[in-house]
Amino acid sequence: MARLLLLATWAMVALGCCCVHEAEAARAFFVFGDSLVDNGNNNYLMTTARADSPPYGIDYPTHEPTGRFSNGLNIPDFISEQLGSEPTLPYLSPELRGRRLLVGANFASAGIGILNDTGVQFINIIRMWQQLENFREYQQRVASLIGTQRAKQLVNQGLVLITVGGNDFVNNYYLVPFSARSRQYDLPDYVPFLISEYRKLLTKLYDLGARKVLVTGTGPLGCVPAELAMRGRNGQCAPELQQAAALFNPQLTQMLRDLNRKYNSQVFIAANTQQMHSDFITNPRAYGFVTSKVACCGQGPYNGLGLCTVASNLCANRDQYAFWDPFHPSERANRIIVQQIMTGSTKYMNPMNLSTILALDSNL
Ligand SMILES: *[C@@H]1O[C@H](CO)[C@@H](O)[C@H](O)[C@H]1NC(C)=O
Ligand SMILES: *[C@@H]1O[C@H](CO)[C@@H](O)[C@H](O)[C@H]1NC(C)=O
Repeated sequence: MARLLLLATWAMVALGCCCVHEAEAARAFFVFGDSLVDNGNNNYLMTTARADSPPYGIDYPTHEPTGRFSNGLNIPDFISEQLGSEPTLPYLSPELRGRRLLVGANFASAGIGILNDTGVQFINIIRMWQQLENFREYQQRVASLIGTQRAKQLVNQGLVLITVGGNDFVNNYYLVPFSARSRQYDLPDYVPFLISEYRKLLTKLYDLGARKVLVTGTGPLGCVPAELAMRGRNGQCAPELQQAAALFNPQLTQMLRDLNRKYNSQVFIAANTQQMHSDFITNPRAYGFVTSKVACCGQGPYNGLGLCTVASNLCANRDQYAFWDPFHPSERANRIIVQQIMTGSTKYMNPMNLSTILALDSNL
């Protein structure tokens, strides 16, 4: 009798251990969007939008370029760290197979926007609809590995990050004077058009099984070193791009609120990256940066012109710069942004922060 009880207890302990492990391993991570979150998909494409040569990756653990638009880690890497997982692999990486599929995948592609006509100058990039199509294909691959039911669960319980929209201004509407989109729409009409197209993408993401989706807004587009160099007057942020971000972000938050109401669930979480970046820009020293205007790597005023290459100026201490290159935050800025995503108040995260989401879900 005692023996039987003991066995039963052992069995329960063993089961308990196994369920906990499964729950922990079960939180896959999926990333969609543009260069702010691409971790190497474009390395496999014929495109000019790439970050696979030095000095990109100079502070990455391998000190090699990876395709991340950062001196080191990017926002998805720090989120993976918080989830306790290894970084997701780019969807196009040949290493993404077998058990590694269960960690999730990164579908992002530098240069893309909400609209299909954004980033056409980069030639071969993976537009949002194709990223979603790849997500569907991914799920089939996982299903053939662990079965349809568990694959569905892996996706439902996974965390999604999507970062897109900046390029619809920078690499479309404002790319050239009198661009096709700017002749078609005034800015106050272009923004609701973008939002309605974005809503279709998010609806598709929901239909594909995503149930916890972090959606970042655009940063203060007019304040990046590239825009200070090309459009700013005397170091002031470029007003038209600032206006674009000021219109886009609140309408995005409202659209997410509407979708959550429609699904009667807090599926979409807005991350106010505009506020997070503005904090660095108004008071860089409070965050340990010496500047938020000059890029670490680049040339010309604010190191804001052209690409970051081996021929560019390169700062000695990347941690002192909010911007790594003319458009992208430094590793240290990315780390601070993810801290805000984890623990920020409702000023930064709406309706709740990631630590709250993770705590709620672990009670399920
Ligand atoms: C963008 O392209 C996809 C796939 O080719 C298509 O399904 C979608 O309708 C297009 N969107 C617009 C607004 O044209
Ligand atoms: C965010 O996270 C912290 C815990 O790290 C918590 O105290 C706080 O209330 C959270 N805020 C919101 C708005 O969820």
